[in-house]
Amino acid sequence: MRTRYLALLGAAVLASAGVALAPHARAAAGLPYQDPNLPVATRVTDLLGRMSLDEKLGQMTQAERPNASNADVTTYRLGSVFSGGGAAPSPNTATGWADMYDAYQRAAQATPLQIPIIYGADAVHGHNNVVGATIFPHNIGLGASRDPALVQRIGRATAEEVSGTGVDWTFSPCLCVARNDRWGRTYESFGEKPELPTAMATIIDGLQGSSLNGPASVLATAKHYVADGGTTGGRDQGDAQITEAELRSIHLPPFQEAVRRNVGSVMISFSSWNGQKLHGSSYLINTVLKGELGFTGFVVTDYNGIDQLDGQPGFTGAEVRQAINAGIDMVMVSSAWKSFIDTLRAEVQAGRITQARIDDANRRILTKKFELGLFEKPLTDRSYTGTVGSAAHREIAREAVRKSQVLLKNANRVLPLARDNNKIFVAGKSADNIGYQSGGWTVTWQGGSGAITPGTTILQGIRAGAGANTTVTYSQNGSGIDSSYKVAVAVVGETPYAEGQGDRTGSMSLDATDLNTLNTLRASGVPVVVVLVSGRPMDIADQVGNWAGLLASWLPGTEGAGVADVLYGAYKPTGKLPVTWMQSASQQPINDGDGKASLFPFGFGLTYDDSTTPPTTPPTTTPPTTPPTTTPPTTTPPTTTPPTTRPPTTPPTTTPPTTPPTTGACQVTYAVNDWGSGFTASVTIKNTGTAAVNGWTLKFTFPGNQRVTQGWSATWSQSGADVTATDLSWNGTLAPGASTDIGFNGSYSGGNPRPTSFSLNGRACTAG
Ligand code: BGC
Repeated sequence: MRTRYLALLGAAVLASAGVALAPHARAAAGLPYQDPNLPVATRVTDLLGRMSLDEKLGQMTQAERPNASNADVTTYRLGSVFSGGGAAPSPNTATGWADMYDAYQRAAQATPLQIPIIYGADAVHGHNNVVGATIFPHNIGLGASRDPALVQRIGRATAEEVSGTGVDWTFSPCLCVARNDRWGRTYESFGEKPELPTAMATIIDGLQGSSLNGPASVLATAKHYVADGGTTGGRDQGDAQITEAELRSIHLPPFQEAVRRNVGSVMISFSSWNGQKLHGSSYLINTVLKGELGFTGFVVTDYNGIDQLDGQPGFTGAEVRQAINAGIDMVMVSSAWKSFIDTLRAEVQAGRITQARIDDANRRILTKKFELGLFEKPLTDRSYTGTVGSAAHREIAREAVRKSQVLLKNANRVLPLARDNNKIFVAGKSADNIGYQSGGWTVTWQGGSGAITPGTTILQGIRAGAGANTTVTYSQNGSGIDSSYKVAVAVVGETPYAEGQGDRTGSMSLDATDLNTLNTLRASGVPVVVVLVSGRPMDIADQVGNWAGLLASWLPGTEGAGVADVLYGAYKPTGKLPVTWMQSASQQPINDGDGKASLFPFGFGLTYDDSTTPPTTPPTTTPPTTPPTTTPPTTTPPTTTPPTTRPPTTPPTTTPPTTPPTTGACQVTYAVNDWGSGFTASVTIKNTGTAAVNGWTLKFTFPGNQRVTQGWSATWSQSGADVTATDLSWNGTLAPGASTDIGFNGSYSGGNPRPTSFSLNGRACTAG
């Protein structure tokens, strides 16, 4: 469990416990709110009418497991209990969790109204607190897969494992858009452009199922609202000093998509927007999230988030008032939850928080509890307990690992490795380490080293994949290699971290251990393939010229065999960079479209060349040593520009006008990131006229058989090949010279030719 907030424990101990209970003489039975045949809204209204103020305050309180006993749930009518990173029961097994959960629910049943608790945990890459659970790649790897359907299946598998332990609610997905790779939470992001987290919001469908009270449905949380990935310097819990236009175009779209998919809860970000803490922002919570976006679920704080409002330890009335009145419905508190309840009660009794606000918060929370079916089935569905770490789920994870690998360099076709008649040397601190390959948020908050949970290390995967007459030799630091080996695989990278502990304000290079290992390997003259296990791009430009191959593996989780599948060519790599790869740490922040010269651009990723038979034995020559700035990645060069200049995703995507540009009041740029089976189109509409545009409709026609599968920042529709995008309330007005960015994900078969003409409100626009 985490220790950083233990200072608050004192406040909790000192807090008074005066709870006035509702006058229920008997346990409730047969009351309208207990009738599953009545509409949820009716049940909520009936229940609210029976609750005392203290029962309502309890519903709004979420206490952390180590600091909340079963008796506390009964006495204080707690609405929710949670496990922060690593706050696991003992024994930390699926059954241990289910037993713990059921004990809490029985304590809730011992209250007059028998309102079940909702138990939350961070299942952010599988049910990661539970030893034995399937650990999926962290989100950055899933972003590289560009496979929203796979991500939905991961959500479903995760939901089954979560349900099998009783837990009702996961604090995921993180829909953060990581704009600066110095940020310690970069790996929790699906990617640096809003379209990736937006596309991957399918995980919500997997987690929540087709209906919340269906089997193994768990409530999802879109977090951290909003612009947590946009802070200056990539500082965790920092300040996003950005315009509202940037907040809306970069950071808001994934949340819009989450709301569209009926996400049950939204977690507020610790961070600030232009100096104001998000936890106190009525504009962003009440006005934008609940008003404009129409979010009907409930809003939860981050861990003791309210307590950060004034920067002083301990809840104050002013903090609680500001946050609850800003629209927060449930308050996550590690230990000082009694103090919170007392403070909240005092604010309500003084009339500074209205009863109506309390009722609204309760209505939102109780609605989700009813929808989840908790009143009917408060105990763990143990038919899912056996799915935790099941072979079927591990197979999905292995598929995700395969699809998340991004091949960045492949000189002389050193990859794929020949399975047969090969002599492979494996080295590196991350080669045989489940903890390292899983990263933070694995069993413990910060993650760990070694066999912290069952799985297959990358080395084990390489060994298992070796064919006839192939030897695989392993030495962690590279000692023992000699020129008789045909290839060396160095599995190196970052050691685990979570949140601010992963912030990198200085160097983003490989550590001395890795550099020593690599030097040892290189001195042998054997070509070196680097498998980089990291939560973000690392500063490798002065090294990559020494390597024959480079595979960005991200944080693959427990199924290391998926890495071996790619190394051996059992699966030809399809992963594409979800972030721009810097030339040097000094370039941070670096993002697609900002004009900075990357080492590898957003969307880049090689595959194995089908046109010729891969060499059965790897090249034995020394890998090129020229600096990477003159060595573009080899096997399949980027389709246009080498990565030393402008990213290739941008230039080929701007549609060249096929006819001389027409004069219009608008200009449309249509840029495509194509990953073979699908694509993302980024469309910029600019008002080039002299009058403001108030409300717009953009039309264009696909020249091929493309389909819009999912759009953002506009209402999209398609009829035949004709596509229409209509403004949303926030981007409908375009002053002269102003532009707005909208976009969509699409599918196609055959070619993907671009539309050549666009019209805005019936007037032709110039293209480009
Ligand atoms: C993190 C959240 C997480 C919460 C509960 C916080 O520190 O920022 O992402 O959901 O803890 O563990």
